[in-house]
Order: sequence, then C-alpha cells, then structure tokens
Amino acid sequence: MKTLMFVVLLGIGLHGAVAVTHSLKYFYTASSGVPNFPEYVSVGLVDDVQISHCDSNTMRNEPKQDWMNRVTAEDPQYWEEQTQLCLGSQQTFKANIEILKQRFNQTGGVHIVQRMVGCEWDDESNEVNGYYQDGYDGEDFIAFDLKTETWTAPKQQAFKTKNKWDHNKALIAQTKNYLTQECIDWLKKYVDYGRSSLLRTDRPSVSFLQKTSSSPVSCHATGFYPNSATLIWRKDGEEIHENVDHGEILLNHDGSFQMSVDLNLSSVTPEDWRKYDCVFQLYGVKNDIVTKLDKAEIRTNWGKTGIRTNEEKTIDTTVIIIAAVVVLALVLIVVVGLRVCKKRNAKVPQYIECHPTEFPPRISSIESQKSEIILIKD
Ligand SMILES: *[C@@H]1O[C@H](CO)[C@@H](O)[C@H](O)[C@H]1NC(C)=O
Ligand SMILES: *[C@@H]1O[C@H](CO)[C@@H](O)[C@H](O)[C@H]1NC(C)=O
Repeated sequence: MKTLMFVVLLGIGLHGAVAVTHSLKYFYTASSGVPNFPEYVSVGLVDDVQISHCDSNTMRNEPKQDWMNRVTAEDPQYWEEQTQLCLGSQQTFKANIEILKQRFNQTGGVHIVQRMVGCEWDDESNEVNGYYQDGYDGEDFIAFDLKTETWTAPKQQAFKTKNKWDHNKALIAQTKNYLTQECIDWLKKYVDYGRSSLLRTDRPSVSFLQKTSSSPVSCHATGFYPNSATLIWRKDGEEIHENVDHGEILLNHDGSFQMSVDLNLSSVTPEDWRKYDCVFQLYGVKNDIVTKLDKAEIRTNWGKTGIRTNEEKTIDTTVIIIAAVVVLALVLIVVVGLRVCKKRNAKVPQYIECHPTEFPPRISSIESQKSEIILIKD
C-alpha cells in the first residue's frame, strides 16, 4: 500500500513538473558547391530532440529515436512515405536553389537554401504557434506570418514570390492549416510516443570554474533535461545582474544540456565572496540547486600558487606531451572510424553516424506533414 502510495505521489509529482511548450520542427538544407556534404539534408526534431533524418546520400528517411518506431504500429508505411516525401522535396529544393541563383545573378560558388517549418504547443494553455521560413545564403528570404496570413519578404529578389504566394489563397489556407492543426496533431502524437524520454527531468551537476586567477568565476551546470532552465548568481540571496554574463544553453552528446553564467569578482574582497551563491532552476521543478561560492571548491587550470615551481613546469610539459599523444590517438580513431563508416555505408546507410559533427544550418520543408512542398517558382 505504501509503495502504491509512493508511486501515485511520484506520478503526480512528475506530471506537475512538466507543463511545457512542446515543439515539432523540420529543418531542410539544400546546398550547391559544398564538397563532401550531401546536397540535401532534412531533419525533424521534437522538443529539440532529433527524431528523423534523410539526405541525398542515404536516400532514406529514418528514425533517430527508438520511440519514433512506434509510428509504424498505427501506420506501417510511415517511414516509406517519409522517404518518398524526402526524395520529392529534394528535387524541389534543388530546383529552388537554381531559381534563386538566377534571381541573384549567380553562376557558381557555394549556395545554401534553408527552410524551417514547425509548430509549438503549450500543454497547459493549449496555445499554438507556427512558423514557415526560407533562407538563402544565410539570410531571410521569405516567411509566413501566421497572424496576418501573408508572406514576408525582406529581399527584393523575393518580392515576385511573395506576390504570387499572397494571391494563392489555397496555399495560405493549406499552410495555416498545416501549422495550426496537422503539425500540432503530429506533435502530440510524437510527444506521446516519446513521453518517458521527453518528459523526464534530470538535474545537473553544478561546479565553479575559473580560467586564471583574474578571470570571472563561471558557475557551470551540466547534465540537465529539458532545456527550460535558468542559472543565476545571487548576493545575500538576491539575484544580481551587474558583472554577470550569461552563456547559451548547449546540447551535450547524451542529449542532456549544459550552461554557464560568469561573474566578474575582481572588485569583490575575498571576505565578501561567501555572500555569493549560484542557483540552478529547472522549469516546473521545485528543488533549486543552490551552490555557495567557496574559493576552495573552484576548479582551475593553474597551480595553487601564482608562482610555478620547476616541478610544476615539468608536470606542465608532461601534460602537454600526454595531451599531444591523446589528440593524435583521437585523430587516428576518427580517421579509421570514417574509413570503417564508409565501408559500412556500402551496405547499410548510416551516413550521419560517420560525421563527428553535423553541418550547422539545416532546412526543412513540409515533409512529414504529408503536404506539398512549396516550390519558389510558379
Ligand atoms: C541581375 O542582372 C539584371 C540584368 O543585368 C539586373 O537588372 C539586376 O539588377 C541584377 N540583379 C542583381 C541582384 O545583381
Ligand atoms: C572585471 O571587472 C574589472 C573591474 O570592474 C574590469 O577591469 C575587467 O575588465 C573585468 N573583467 C572581465 C573579464 O570582464
């Protein structure tokens, strides 16, 4: 009975902790003139967790999370259909890139067309939002404004497209319907499939870091999930903003997040350091992590004293040699790894795993939504 009670309470606790805005986003990128990179890549993300991948090398749309395989229980053809949509949109994007090159009077060089399509849903207020935007060579080209139901074109080269799309009432209705209905339906479905993973909350480990004795002290939190979190510095229990520099939230390899906030303490006397603390708060989770600033707890790169002894210098040299060997070994591993990947690719399409890092900008089209991809031309 007690166990049951505990489980029930835990269930309520978890549920209460996760009222958040969920999102489904597709990024599509078409490029020309970029060697050793697929001309077309599309990826899907739910709550910023990658769910799908398709590119012009693999020619397949594939799940990136185990739980995304659950779609096939309801729709056995799902991944096959997604692949067909991907192959179709690949042609559209290739055509678009040629159209845009012409409009910008370009003949060769590196060019990139990006599209981001997505929607957001607040699971408490049920409020929804959507976006559909295209970029060319890193700049906004055309975007749909859901409020006015018109297309926004900051560039003269997009005026023609804006004009045409603004007069296409069917396109506007379809885009609006996709962003506010269909996309939301898919989002709810995917969130449900990935519930145990997406709705988890992980608390981070928090530590203090400092580069040199005159550098700001960085409060660093890593390993938290989801990414709706805040990290602040306080003095005597009050949040402070002066001399504080907030870093971005970054994704870790295991899907958790990290962030840091720097505090410049150069004008604070050592006795006053103990008045400061750093507070990590995960949205919707009650217990904040409060860490008191303690000089002895700061992790640094330099020795305990400002003046380095010969012994420390020897250690430094040793560290450098070890680091060099490690770097060399890593390079070898990556090179060998790539070879193995390439060989494997001959049979199994596993393209993305072979890339240590992914290409930053990714674009999408209305791929998984089973609607038409919009061609920029008539
Ligand atoms: C492209 O060339 C046409 C004709 O020469 C010219 O009218 C137009 O302004 C040029 N556009 C750009 C972006 O340079
Ligand atoms: C920290 O503050 C001091 C004095 O206010 C200033 O001179 C210094 O440039 C600051 N350091 C950083 C890294 O911002």
